[in-house]
Amino acid sequence: GWLGFSIFNASGKRGKERTQDRIIDAGTVDQFKPGQVKAIAQGQFYLSRLEDGRFIALSRVCTHLGCALPWNYEKQAFVCPCHGSTFDRQGLATRPPATRPLDYYRVRIENGVIMVNITTSVGRSGFSSSQTA
Ligand code: FES
Repeated sequence: GWLGFSIFNASGKRGKERTQDRIIDAGTVDQFKPGQVKAIAQGQFYLSRLEDGRFIALSRVCTHLGCALPWNYEKQAFVCPCHGSTFDRQGLATRPPATRPLDYYRVRIENGVIMVNITTSVGRSGFSSSQTA
């Protein structure tokens, strides 16, 4: 199921509230090697496959002051162009001024297809947000 505490049904109804969920098909599990990070949907978010095979969909918004983060392949890190914060492939802040991990989006894997719910990103204080394929 979706990660996190919000459960959405197929029509996007949740209680009385009706949400228009935006679901992105991010490709298939076998398109990602462990350790790989890819920009998805014209860079709206990053999909990262961790070494243990889990996936995490990361916001590209730096948690310092909100600049858009590029993935730096050589450094294997997100390096913020604004004030130099870095984040690892799990989205954890590894160099200040940012200290908070990147927000993430809920990921669901169905029949080998990775679907990401980009309706709202989820903040976190620690790392607990990926899923085993
Ligand atoms: Fe990214 Fe300041 S906005 S380090």
